[in-house]
Amino acid sequence: PKVCDMIIVGEGPGLTEVKTGQPFTGRLGELLNRVLKRVGLKREDVYITNAVLCYSENGNQTTLNEIKCCRDRLKKSIFLHSPKIIVALGGTAACAVLNVSRISVMTQRGYFLSSPEFNCKVLITLHPAAVLRDLSLYSLFLEDFYKAANYVKYQPSISITSKKYVNLKTKEEVLKVLDMLEKKGIFAFDIETTG
Ligand code: URA
Repeated sequence: PKVCDMIIVGEGPGLTEVKTGQPFTGRLGELLNRVLKRVGLKREDVYITNAVLCYSENGNQTTLNEIKCCRDRLKKSIFLHSPKIIVALGGTAACAVLNVSRISVMTQRGYFLSSPEFNCKVLITLHPAAVLRDLSLYSLFLEDFYKAANYVKYQPSISITSKKYVNLKTKEEVLKVLDMLEKKGIFAFDIETTG
């Protein structure tokens, strides 16, 4: 798609991707497609790319230099699609998107990080290859995609800068707000109590 709400960034093409010219084909692609379907997204509505586009036959971990060399291309393709959220699959993708040299996927995954550079959220999750190596990670992977998909669907319409406080004094006013919240579908509230 030309413009899309979600971009998924992987690490780099494998042999099957080199043959097909498409990211995430083969077993990793099957896993990704299954998760996208589970969270109510169509693969064709999402733009999928990789941190690097070269295939290294020696199978080594992608280097920082390779990420750096490919970052302008990644940046351009992100700007071109104006996403609401970028889902980074694994550490290499996260480093490329956030332009950092190290990241701990297990401690940073599942949070909505902000990217001032791309003016959108970034959510780090596991790389599908890590999930296939250890299937007990599947639930975390799915959980992260649910979060990202919900963010796209229910992106908060109230911005922090336009916060408006309302003092509810009557039962009718409370019921009206409850009605509004029900229609919003997703919301959060905080209560302060005295005991
Ligand atoms: N295929 C891709 O396109 N990207 C990866 O990171 C792994 C496999």
